[in-house]
Amino acid sequence: MAEHSLLLVDDEVNVLRALRRVLRSEPIEVRTATRAAEALTMLDAHPAQVVVSDQRMPDATGVDLLATVRERHPDVIRLLLSAFTEVDTAIDAVNRGQVHRLIAKPWNDDELRVTLRQAFEQWDLTNEVHRLDRLTRAQNAELQALNRNLEAMVQDRTKQLAQKNQDLRDAYVQTIRALAEAVDAKDSYTRGHSERVGVYASKIARELDFPKAMIERVYIAGLLHDVGKIGVRDAIITKPDRLDDEETAEMRRHPEIGARILEPVRFLADVVPCVRHHHEWFDGSSRGYPHRLSGDRIPIASRVILVADTVEAMTSDRPYRKGLPLERVVSEIHDFSGTQFDPTVASAFLRILEREGERFIRRDQKFDIYAFIEG
Ligand SMILES: [Fe+2]
Ligand SMILES: [Fe+2]
Repeated sequence: MAEHSLLLVDDEVNVLRALRRVLRSEPIEVRTATRAAEALTMLDAHPAQVVVSDQRMPDATGVDLLATVRERHPDVIRLLLSAFTEVDTAIDAVNRGQVHRLIAKPWNDDELRVTLRQAFEQWDLTNEVHRLDRLTRAQNAELQALNRNLEAMVQDRTKQLAQKNQDLRDAYVQTIRALAEAVDAKDSYTRGHSERVGVYASKIARELDFPKAMIERVYIAGLLHDVGKIGVRDAIITKPDRLDDEETAEMRRHPEIGARILEPVRFLADVVPCVRHHHEWFDGSSRGYPHRLSGDRIPIASRVILVADTVEAMTSDRPYRKGLPLERVVSEIHDFSGTQFDPTVASAFLRILEREGERFIRRDQKFDIYAFIEG
């Protein structure tokens, strides 16, 4: 079967026969119809790419037939055979888009063949354009689907990664907590001290509007601030009485020991100076240690921890006294603001205390950076 099909419509069988003869050598399949209705039925049953219709037929004009063909089969190329006497109607039909081209009657054989070849070429071209258009659309749709998929995949992976990060961070904080607890356990009176210092310090850090990463660093440094007590003799740590000079000197080595213990841990690099300087005084006086740093030269996390440490120590029971009331803590922080404590940190603490009162030192508080920041 030829690739191209042509439907010829004319009520005069002689004309149809003549046309067939002209087209005999063309590589196309030719069908014929003598009535407009018949032509439409045939076209429904056997698609043709080109229809040539006579204008004057008993059951319809060629223009009307071709207008119907256009409605039902918009891709079909429509040619009208018309005599010179009908030329006005025919031109009008071309202009209104019902007909692609006119073939003058009587026709020139060579011209007719060329016209038909061009009609099939036009069909092929339009068909190819449509095919490419459909292909582009399909590919676009596919790409869009792929993009949506990719986006979903990226979101999914990001979520998984965030979860993994969170798990890792939790595990790391738990390890640090365990270490801090081990240190606190050296003395039954300091059980939970480090965790509470971490929590208090992180609350002050939040009050100071520190960024999230910094609040976390303050908490971790709070947990680890006394880790150096591992290197201090138990007899000194648990001694209920005042320490003598030599014992005080040994006790005062704990920030440096702690810093040394943590130094080899790469991911704690930021925390090391905070631990080393958590007993420096803001005024740089000799009461601070180990380096008698002052003001801004003391890491801010250390300044925050010093306040938190003092609050925790004062409000906790000791072998020689019960935990002190918050009023005592307030006056202490107040009195030493500017000498021992950074005034900015001290007033941040006092602000929170005004809001929270006893809740500030509630023992069951846990550090949760997410609850903290978003809550
Ligand atoms: Fe300490
Ligand atoms: Fe401490």
